[in-house]
Amino acid sequence: MPSIARRVQPFGTTIFAQINTLAARYGAVNLGQGRPDVDGPASIIEAAVDALTSGRGNQYPSGLGVLELREGIARHVEHFYGLKVDVESGVVVTNGAAEGVYSAVQGIVNEGDEVILIEPFFDTYLPSVINAGGVPVYVPMRPPQWTFDPDELRAAFNERTAAIILNTPHNPTGRVFTREELQLIADLCIAHDVVVISDEVYEHLTYDHHHHIPIATLPNMFERTLTISSGAKTFSFTGWKVGWVYGHPDLMTGVWRIHQNIVYAVNGPAQYGIAHALTLDDSYYNALRTSYNERRLQLLEALQASGLKPSTPEGAFYIMADFSEVFDGDDLAFAEFLIREVGVATIPPSSFFSDANRCIGSKSVRFSYCKQARVIDAAAERLLKLKSRV
Ligand SMILES: Cc1ncc(COP(=O)(O)O)c(C=O)c1O
Repeated sequence: MPSIARRVQPFGTTIFAQINTLAARYGAVNLGQGRPDVDGPASIIEAAVDALTSGRGNQYPSGLGVLELREGIARHVEHFYGLKVDVESGVVVTNGAAEGVYSAVQGIVNEGDEVILIEPFFDTYLPSVINAGGVPVYVPMRPPQWTFDPDELRAAFNERTAAIILNTPHNPTGRVFTREELQLIADLCIAHDVVVISDEVYEHLTYDHHHHIPIATLPNMFERTLTISSGAKTFSFTGWKVGWVYGHPDLMTGVWRIHQNIVYAVNGPAQYGIAHALTLDDSYYNALRTSYNERRLQLLEALQASGLKPSTPEGAFYIMADFSEVFDGDDLAFAEFLIREVGVATIPPSSFFSDANRCIGSKSVRFSYCKQARVIDAAAERLLKLKSRV
């Protein structure tokens, strides 16, 4: 009997698909997946439609990405971070940030190399490492601050370490890494000749006094960092799957070689749409941040009122909330209970941890506030049912 490869057997169905199916079955208000319920600006759609009807992008675009988009990415990175990116050899447009991370890992990691994953981590990172033949090495962050222990991080580096995957602002915890944390990571990467694969899809979503610092901007880091971002969260077009990787041409060659051999190119009209998005001025980003901040505060208040213990997020659009005062069980059991009995869907974060550290996430669930205020209100009203359980 033929069977699927051993490599893919442990991967299973993603938690997002499982939760979405259950949420739909029970009519739950879905604060699970990080999928905005309102599309981004109409002008971005118009730019993609124009590319369709005018015949631009209907045939295979450049495998690197359409020039207008690569130029837009280079402009964006220089404008916000002062980094210079070569549009011919320093950037590749990918099928979302997910392919960006995947291709970065395949382009850097040799069989048997160690790759450090800071836990909890976005769920595609581990399959990316395993498919490259890499060996994951875990460094956990712990609640309620969701920081890592510097000594545990130091201990994870050795002569076999090829890469570390970083994500800031962070999904699911909402952490924004400080300059000190990033400098420690940078120092260790320089000392051990390690590449950083930095997933920055929430780069524009930071709150209060927190600011996003790309690790590539730290001294001597550009040449050892592959930075990934995407139009999904910044412009609210998660369905378009237009992302990108930028970095030093010497490292980008690896990304390009794998990218051209798995997908070759990315949807043409969508690329023109995101190229237009990158011409929007700073007021767009400020309005996005303000709007998410309002919903962050709205959801925080609702969670506190329900008897949960949320951590205050510094960035992205998620809140981790400890449920141990209202429910006696693990995160998957609580997420199922919330869907069935309360009518609200969340993501249980233990699938973002290694088996050894799964217990760290087993008393929290992740709520997303990339939803309209009225949807958050509807969830808030239902969550009040939890209050009687405190
Ligand atoms: C940290 C992180 N990286 C990558 C992605 C995937 O981004 P894309 O849809 O652009 O592939 C997500 C989506 O939720 C994410 O949270």
